[in-house]
Amino acid sequence: MSEGHPRVEVMHGVNLDQLGRRDPLLYGTLTLAELERRIGERAAALGMSASFFHTNHEGDFVERLHSLRGSAQAVILNPGAWTHYAWAIRDALEVACVPAVEVHLSDVQAREPWRRVSVVAELCFARVYGRGPDGYDDALDLVREELARGGGERVAG
Ligand code: DQA
Repeated sequence: MSEGHPRVEVMHGVNLDQLGRRDPLLYGTLTLAELERRIGERAAALGMSASFFHTNHEGDFVERLHSLRGSAQAVILNPGAWTHYAWAIRDALEVACVPAVEVHLSDVQAREPWRRVSVVAELCFARVYGRGPDGYDDALDLVREELARGGGERVAG
């Protein structure tokens, strides 16, 4: 992608590298590589540049969030199970200081009660869940609207 396009970081957390092997009724059949390709194409069509990160290690996820400050215009994050309890990720997202959208492939509100809790939700301007891969399209649309509104300005955490 050429310079001048807003950079949107798309971050996947624990176990999301196992897409394609996890329950297809919950998570669909795309692998993470296929999902990222799809997101990248959609981002480009919207005039944005997507970069991708996945890890199964919480500290690496935290450090990647730290690195976003000043280098990405927005973040779309699906932290997997960390969403529900990893306060260090919540604090790192605050440090990142960029507009954030939380995405889940499955409908976390309709599953076990513990999945209804999100420690990052309060720092995200939008949440998308239960829409499968289309949820990332929604998130990209929301990011584009937010950036057009000037929503890139954030108070440092
Ligand atoms: C998930 C939902 C989480 O509860 C779960 O732990 C995941 C995936 C989703 O995309 O639906 O690993 O984030």
